[in-house]
Amino acid sequence: METQKFLTENNVQIESWGPFAEGKNNIFGNELLVSIAEKHGKTVAQIILRWLTQRNIIVIPKSVRKDRMAENFDIFNFELTQEDMDVIRQLNTGTSLFFDHRDPAMVKFLSEAKRNT
Ligand SMILES: NC(=O)c1ccc[n+]([C@@H]2O[C@H](COP(=O)([O-])OP(=O)(O)OC[C@H]3O[C@@H](n4cnc5c(N)ncnc54)[C@H](OP(=O)(O)O)[C@@H]3O)[C@@H](O)[C@H]2O)c1
Repeated sequence: METQKFLTENNVQIESWGPFAEGKNNIFGNELLVSIAEKHGKTVAQIILRWLTQRNIIVIPKSVRKDRMAENFDIFNFELTQEDMDVIRQLNTGTSLFFDHRDPAMVKFLSEAKRNT
């Protein structure tokens, strides 16, 4: 949240690196997300995308399946409550599943990888 505040103040738009965490940690079977999905009559994928969208985070979910692509677009006819938002936030472990974008060595690696392509 602190990072998002800083970026917003500097006109930088956040985009989710992998909105479904690439399916890691059995995200689609997460009990908390399943219960919120059942409450809204939506899927876990839709709850995740709605949670990100309500936080003004851009999502570009990847799917090779047409039915899932349609499902992933169908998130604009319901709203998560503040309580839903707060509860979902508690799933944050504070550690990236991928890598630390603030690690100078990683930033150097990424900038060099881009230069070499
Ligand atoms: N993560 C990275 O390293 C990275 C880096 C640069 C750019 N990107 C871009 O960011 C976008 C998303 O990243 P990502 O593909 O790595 O991860 P992601 O969107 O977090 O997860 C994609 C996974 O979720 C599954 N999925 C999609 N919709 C679903 C649904 N409604 N229900 C259940 N499963 C669903 C997909 O399976 P199916 O395809 O079988 O449906 C796929 O296995 C992509 O466009 C990617 O090119 C990612």
